[in-house]
Amino acid sequence: MESLSVVILAAGKGKRMYSALPKVLHPIGGQPMLARVIATARQLQPAKIVVVYGHGGEQVRATIQDVDVEWALQAEQLGTGHALKMALPHLPKNGHTLVLYGDVPLTTLATLQQLLAAANGGMSLLTDVLADASGYGRIVRNAGDIVAIVEDKDCNAEQKAIREINTGMLVLPNARLEGWLSELRNGNAQGEYYLTDVIALAVRDGIAVPGVTVAASWEAAGVNNKLQLAELERQLQLNQARALLTAGVTLADPARIDIRGQLEHSEDVSIDVGCVFEGHVKLGAGVQIGAYCVLKNVTVAAGTRIAPYSHLEEAEVGAGCQLGPYARLRPGAKLADHVHIGNFVEVKKSTIGSGSKVNHLTYIGDADIGSKVNVGAGTVTCNYDGVNKFRTTIGNGVFVGSGSMLVAPVTLEDGATIGAGSVITRTAPAEQLTVARAKQLTIPGWQRPQKKS
Ligand code: UD1
Ligand code: MG
Repeated sequence: MESLSVVILAAGKGKRMYSALPKVLHPIGGQPMLARVIATARQLQPAKIVVVYGHGGEQVRATIQDVDVEWALQAEQLGTGHALKMALPHLPKNGHTLVLYGDVPLTTLATLQQLLAAANGGMSLLTDVLADASGYGRIVRNAGDIVAIVEDKDCNAEQKAIREINTGMLVLPNARLEGWLSELRNGNAQGEYYLTDVIALAVRDGIAVPGVTVAASWEAAGVNNKLQLAELERQLQLNQARALLTAGVTLADPARIDIRGQLEHSEDVSIDVGCVFEGHVKLGAGVQIGAYCVLKNVTVAAGTRIAPYSHLEEAEVGAGCQLGPYARLRPGAKLADHVHIGNFVEVKKSTIGSGSKVNHLTYIGDADIGSKVNVGAGTVTCNYDGVNKFRTTIGNGVFVGSGSMLVAPVTLEDGATIGAGSVITRTAPAEQLTVARAKQLTIPGWQRPQKKS
């Protein structure tokens, strides 16, 4: 095929979002809408992608930071035809251009491929058929062939009744673009240069405009306000949930899972309701995730079970572990196989060796813990002096009694036992009991004070 360019129109103001964030940067599935459109466009392997951005859109360029995208400024929003004209200097004289919108995030690759195939070197137009077409440009056909698009505000009564609408996505031959765009006039209801007017110009010039209709309306749905954004977010999540189910993941409810990024999985993974996955999450075979867990950039190896309400971020979990309920793994937590992390346990920048257990109410920060260690309830690695952070080293087979404070830097050697309630500030030697707490004292003859009546 001749060279393909993609132009993404993204200069619209998005006033109805009532937001300081430019509309196309609002996230869908955890990613700015525009980034998603660019990612879809890239799958078509075009020679170039040009984004038309608006006045004050520096934030858009700064956020997208994509070296393979070219930027065309449309300082004033004079209409979609004018917007495409701003991209003209970036486009080769030959080949075709596919026009997409930066605020229409869910168009599928398959549909765009169909649209390009229909153009077959010439033009094509993506349409939809709606029960209520109000607000959209209407597709005017003559003996079945598309002959024009009439904008909603310019429709006569007969045209208003047309239910086939323009999605805005179309393929155009570059050789004709400059001529057609210079012929556009803004003498219409909105005083804008309509890109849609090129359809009638093409037909005048003897170029047919075959239509392709989207498989589902959400593929062409745009976002003008937060309600539409929320609706498309649900649609995207449902699409992703269906794909997971089809690929063999068990979901307690496909309507109650959110994936804001990429979820990789092996077989027999099961996920209860209300879980959120962000960034890149990888789940090994047989992993079970309980209700209301949040996992961000996490790898979980085979057979691990995560009980409800656990929160894991930038962490690595080995095979056959048990976490939660209410476990918290912070960045740099690395658990080997068969580790148990119980309720209200926080682990940060620490490694925990195989078979070790930290089951209750504990903070493990900046620590290296060996295998088969038992850390009792309420233990704290005191890693911070207000300025510096220090590491705690715990050997294999160590037993830490409940309520111990391990004041880093400190080492508990292999097989050491720490008596409950100890404040450990120096090395605890291997295979011995170390206790560091005030001796218990009983005061003979002591009497409780009595209330005077
Ligand atoms: C446009 C179409 C209409 C179609 C509808 C589908 C025209 C004239 N009309 O109407 O036929 O049914 O989309 O949603 O094309 N944009 C710019 N610069 C501008 C104006 C718009 O970049 O000067 C961008 C917007 O950011 C948006 C897209 O173009 O991504 C469409 O603009 P919008 O104002 O929503 O067009 P509609 O009037 O809805
Ligand atoms: Mg619109």
